[in-house]
Amino acid sequence: MDVAGLAPIEQTALLTEYARALDSAHAHPMLADPLASATVAQIDCDFTSLGATASVVALVALRATMLDERIRAFIAAHSDAVVVDLGSGFNSALYRVDPPATVDWYSVDLPAVIALRDALLPEHASARSVAASVLESTWLELIPATRPTLVFADGLFAFLDESAVMSVMRDVTGHFASGVLAFNDYGPVSKLNQLMGRLSTSRNANSPHTQWKFAGFKDAHTPELWNPALQLIEEASGMHRPEARLFPAGLRVAARLSHRVPAIARKARIVQYRF
Ligand SMILES: C[S@@+](CC[C@H](N)C(=O)[O-])C[C@H]1O[C@@H](n2cnc3c(N)ncnc32)[C@H](O)[C@@H]1O
Repeated sequence: MDVAGLAPIEQTALLTEYARALDSAHAHPMLADPLASATVAQIDCDFTSLGATASVVALVALRATMLDERIRAFIAAHSDAVVVDLGSGFNSALYRVDPPATVDWYSVDLPAVIALRDALLPEHASARSVAASVLESTWLELIPATRPTLVFADGLFAFLDESAVMSVMRDVTGHFASGVLAFNDYGPVSKLNQLMGRLSTSRNANSPHTQWKFAGFKDAHTPELWNPALQLIEEASGMHRPEARLFPAGLRVAARLSHRVPAIARKARIVQYRF
């Protein structure tokens, strides 16, 4: 499958899928998603140009593991749940979680990505695709509003600016009657951090760092100030997980330090908000 026509923002979906494929081939995988390898095998692309370092692989696999756990818990409590994957890319969370057919699972991404996703991923009774930008509220019109809803974003918000993130959060809480918003987060990401990310990956022509827009936030309560309908229910760091023992050496040091340095713990966190 040819992905040369994807815009740079759409190409960011290649790195995360490739990272999960590398994890699945690892002697000690964290996520162990065989569908990621099968998907990558169908894509015609120089994946080595993406900058999938051992640390990126570990952190991408771990945050997917953590989000999967939260989605499974939500579905266990709500067998009629709607799950919405914002900026889904080629992520096979649907197949890993494998919900019952009573659950509707909406994958939302830009039209070119959804076209490829639909061609690459197998059928599933719960799968629904929404080919639309989350910056235009029309994506919501296609998704039922009254059932318990878990909206998650794995790797999307970094590529939206703050006003867009706030607008997506407003759209979510305005449309869905009740549920949870869960996403991965890096804490505050200064302009200097963004520049360092770009420079350190400049040899990787398709590094997603060139697309980074979100300055992030330090206090996980900040989205509650942006949107009073959101209530923080969890802030969990991947640095504190037992899987940190499988991190590459440098990242293992960071994980040990993160118990005393909250700024490091924030760099790999999952946050959840009830609405
Ligand atoms: C880093 S990728 C993550 C993809 C996927 N969640 C994963 O874990 O592999 C970011 C995704 O956000 C999508 N995206 C970026 N801006 C978007 C927008 N305005 N509306 C919908 N999707 C968007 C990109 O096309 C891409 O698939």
